[in-house]
Amino acid sequence: MTGDELRALQLERLRSSLRHAYENVAFYRESFDRAGVHPEDCRSLADLTRFPFTVKDDLRAQYPFGMFAVPESEVRRVHASSGTTGRPTVVGYTGRDLDTWAGLVARSIRAAGGRPGHKVHIAYGYGLFTGGLGAHYGAERLGCTVIPASGGMTSRQVQIIRDFRPEVIMVTPSYMLTLLDEFERQGVDPRTTALKVGIFGAEPWTQEMRREIEERFAIDAVDIYGLSEVMGPGVAQECVETKDGLHLWEDHFFPEVVDPLTGEPLPDGEHGELVLTSLTKEAMPVVRYRTRDLTRLLPGTARAAFRRMERVTGRSDDMIILRGVNLFPAQIEEIVLRTPGVAPHFQLRLTREGRMDHLTVRAEARPEATPEARTAAVGQIAREVKNHIGVSVAVEILDPETLERSVGKIKRIHDTRPRD
Ligand code: DLL
Repeated sequence: MTGDELRALQLERLRSSLRHAYENVAFYRESFDRAGVHPEDCRSLADLTRFPFTVKDDLRAQYPFGMFAVPESEVRRVHASSGTTGRPTVVGYTGRDLDTWAGLVARSIRAAGGRPGHKVHIAYGYGLFTGGLGAHYGAERLGCTVIPASGGMTSRQVQIIRDFRPEVIMVTPSYMLTLLDEFERQGVDPRTTALKVGIFGAEPWTQEMRREIEERFAIDAVDIYGLSEVMGPGVAQECVETKDGLHLWEDHFFPEVVDPLTGEPLPDGEHGELVLTSLTKEAMPVVRYRTRDLTRLLPGTARAAFRRMERVTGRSDDMIILRGVNLFPAQIEEIVLRTPGVAPHFQLRLTREGRMDHLTVRAEARPEATPEARTAAVGQIAREVKNHIGVSVAVEILDPETLERSVGKIKRIHDTRPRD
């Protein structure tokens, strides 16, 4: 598809999606009316910026099924986000939505290097989380053999990877590290599996983490992005041949990047918050959904018609503001992973002493690290955080195997500050 053909398709789909939302969801009707816009006002893709944003709280307020644009009997499946704070957000899919989703995940796995006939080990959690089932139906659609392992029971997962010999694994990057530990515990070289490709997402991860995983497992590690409100995994996928950010499947989702504070649209290339509008969803169309994920849009490469999004460096709500300095866990990950003698496991603990906030980076020593190497690591991490991020932190290097391991999405920040 040429760029012009894609834009024409997007506009046609956008107009019908706005109409569908306006006619069938009271929330959108009220929010468009309040903003004084009507679906017919969207005559070009640029007109989308006249429409109001949708935020997570809007979805929560409609709990459970108020955002659905089709009768409940037309909804073939629901998923829900975990909702660490307050009510979960519920999302729904028609039969056609599930079909579209499977097709997009199949496309994603193929762009990642998976092929029909490959075995795909899926260690994303199955259940209300979209990771497991989303990956599952996509892998089947591509013509792969699915191993539906789900999360947890780590020693059995390693056994299965050794015995069933999958070529592809789909899992959070943090759980991949938990699997790595288990390979070592079982005395098995993780480079001897049949794995060729790992498709990692559902949480932020860094180039340093990619390098670590690729080297330790001798695989290609690529990034998959998505969110339940918009569909689930498979909204964007990094192509294995370029590994240069994620191609957004723009025939189904229209991306914008906006200033996270003012909401002003930003031109391609500038960093801001990703905003997504669904173009084909039936059960739950989303219009200008504020993802809170920070990234920027770049021109397409391996799949030239589609723009790329840069790897997500963090969410606006995961940003730590420490004595006036903004900081994301991914920045600490980069530093920890390039420090000799330190394992790729870390945690950030926020405390308050008097009126001052303190951040302690707690990382694990590698088993072979000497006491001198551990002392050097404390100094190196503190220095690099100070030089690159501009804030003083405390650093603790813990014994191997002391930090809690991930079974799915990892929680990096442990905030023990009293709530004001
Ligand atoms: O995490 C969907 C998913 C499953 C994506 C499996 C990829 C693989 P939610 O639970 O709704 O859905 O969480 C969505 O996770 O807004 C991002 O903040 C974060 N996220 C997802 N993928 C990535 C990624 C699934 N590749 C939220 N890099 C999103 C960074 C990611 N963050």
